[in-house]
Amino acid sequence: MSQLPGIARLPMSEFVTHRKNFFAQMADNSIAFFTAAQEITRSNDTEYAFCQDKNFYYLTGFNEPDAMLVLIKQGGTEESILFSLPKDKNHEVWHGRRVGQVKACEQYQLDQCFTLDEQDELISQYLNGIVQVYFAFNNDMLMSQVFSYLAKTRSAIRQGAKVPSNLIDASPIIDNLRLFKSDNEIALMRQANYLSGLAHQRAMQKTQIGLYEYQIENEILHEFARYGARYAAYATIVAGGDNANILHYTNNDECLKNNELLLIDAGGELSGYAADITRTFPINGKFTQAQKALYQLVLTTKNKVILAIKPGTSFAKLNEIANECLTIGLLELGIFSGDLATLIEEKACKKYFIHGLGHWLGLDVHDVGDYQINDHKEQLREFEPGMVLTIEPGLYMPLDDIDIDEKWRGIGIRIEDNIVVTKQGFENLTVNSPETIEEIEALMAK
Ligand code: GLY
Ligand code: MN
Ligand code: MN
Repeated sequence: MSQLPGIARLPMSEFVTHRKNFFAQMADNSIAFFTAAQEITRSNDTEYAFCQDKNFYYLTGFNEPDAMLVLIKQGGTEESILFSLPKDKNHEVWHGRRVGQVKACEQYQLDQCFTLDEQDELISQYLNGIVQVYFAFNNDMLMSQVFSYLAKTRSAIRQGAKVPSNLIDASPIIDNLRLFKSDNEIALMRQANYLSGLAHQRAMQKTQIGLYEYQIENEILHEFARYGARYAAYATIVAGGDNANILHYTNNDECLKNNELLLIDAGGELSGYAADITRTFPINGKFTQAQKALYQLVLTTKNKVILAIKPGTSFAKLNEIANECLTIGLLELGIFSGDLATLIEEKACKKYFIHGLGHWLGLDVHDVGDYQINDHKEQLREFEPGMVLTIEPGLYMPLDDIDIDEKWRGIGIRIEDNIVVTKQGFENLTVNSPETIEEIEALMAK
């Protein structure tokens, strides 16, 4: 196996730092709760592949279901406590090893670890004397759990128990922490991008007329796993011809046809962190004139937008650049007619560019973090070093759109890269996914 640059796992110190950063946002005399994901039944007694809750993972690195992290900040001390499934020989022989409490303490650098059945009793004791309670308000199950702990603490009020009075939503706090990636996280995302680029290369090389979209999907997943990304970060999109005009097309069950394009939106998940890359290329290895014209316009737009990324700029500014670039191109190609300034002003290109220009990227493919800076949601926030985002312009000309010339119909193109905002400007993580017409045609001719 060839050597990939970067690291495949975050050091445990990284998760300790994440907890430290959350503690720094907590008031004194407060407690925070974060829960692990649960296994989800696929059918009868089989489950979907387990995917850890991303906030819980961010704070622990712990990958078992059903666990709970409790952070307590009180009188100048900070304590991280894990409740997790117990060691159970009989269960483990069927379903796999559990870390257990003794090992979890050492391995995950936590202060104390207990089994889940000790949770109710201990947490209602912890709550006694606490003033503020942090948890994610969008987690219904956790909310009812917290209310039942509070009720238990309240039941001891006549014995002198003091019940917390302030409930605070933990989501905005953790979302904002997750928005800024450390050097280690960026190294991991660089590697997720690199291996995903190898998968896009493989897809281009394996594509042939007559194969089915899912066969190319399989080539992608093969390459992800080969380099340590056992799962895709999201359902892989392999969309031939007009299917590319369905933005989240994941059926992937149609036959690849001559003279059509293939749009692949695929990224591996490496140690929890996502890549999100899209490439579009001709199934027979050679772009037609019409495909070439639209493809080059999307590519030029993407690269122009990326060049403008630096601290202080924002999605608002990037949207202006994309709008102008696409509108000029569509006018030159005769798809638009009329006055350029008016078309730009009216954002006419939104007829063919039907989604957003990009989004935050991290542990989630559409990662957490506010896009606006004020409560009225008027102003998009400025970029700062450590943010990671996608840039993904596209043009979509559905087969049944009778307003456009026949030669454009059935063409759907998106090109998507992953970008880190740096102090100086930007770093494009998507370095090895072929994108120029020459690169793509040369690779497919091999
Ligand atoms: N892969 C989903 C997206 O590009 O947003
Ligand atoms: Mn994306
Ligand atoms: Mn994508």
